[in-house]
Amino acid sequence: MHDPSESDSFMKNCQLAADINASWNWRMIPLSHHPTSECAVHRQEESLMNEPQMPYNFADLEPAMSRDTLVFHFLRHQRVCYDRMVTLSRGTEFEALSLEELVRVTERNPAHHVLYRHAAEVWNHDLYWRSMRPRGGGAPAGLVAQHIAARFGNYERFAREFRDAGSAHFGSGWLWLVWRAGTLEIVTTSNAGTPLVRGDTALIAVDLWEHAYYLDHQNRRAAYVNTFLEELISWEEANRALASLPTARDLRAPTRLRATPELPSPRHGQ
Ligand SMILES: [Fe+2]
Repeated sequence: MHDPSESDSFMKNCQLAADINASWNWRMIPLSHHPTSECAVHRQEESLMNEPQMPYNFADLEPAMSRDTLVFHFLRHQRVCYDRMVTLSRGTEFEALSLEELVRVTERNPAHHVLYRHAAEVWNHDLYWRSMRPRGGGAPAGLVAQHIAARFGNYERFAREFRDAGSAHFGSGWLWLVWRAGTLEIVTTSNAGTPLVRGDTALIAVDLWEHAYYLDHQNRRAAYVNTFLEELISWEEANRALASLPTARDLRAPTRLRATPELPSPRHGQ
């Protein structure tokens, strides 16, 4: 995904990160510059204290998503959530948990809703970065394409419902493609809400907070979601997740078309 010869781009990103860190009195962030960034893909399964990483350089998604958007989003939003999560977890029983465990455990206890929100945002953003790739977008292939055809009839209907769900969501939140009860579903969550606590398997995440698109699209969320579908989405991420699910690998009983269900009511502060 990343051409090692693009050292200039990487060095510029490092310098930009260093500049921002210096102005915020942060330590240098170890940005991933490896093509596959397996450590980022599986970070949630490892130590809670592992720092957020991206699977590409800040400029790699241009022109679909600007470097400025990714720099500010990664360093001034996810990073802030990560720092707060670590501060709140340090010295507690939560410190030894994985990120996924922390999200699930704290979601069940309203006394820990602040920690839950920050941990969920770290997890949500991890999947969001992986849900995009340079020169991504367009119609899917592989397992996810077959399930989209089974659930939505065709890709065009899926794309229309996906865009409509993003536009219809009120306020900040997230747009998801999830695997639920043996089929694909399009759902949204408010604020830091995450499918991780609802028994769904999240395949694709789209950040609907304005900070995700304001620099590139101002308040035009529909244009942002459309660009995500046409130029950014990584169907490879969805296929990777589906391939790990035995119920998704079995295509002998195709899913019947049916209406998109309402999302269950969120718990505290979502
Ligand atoms: Fe965000």
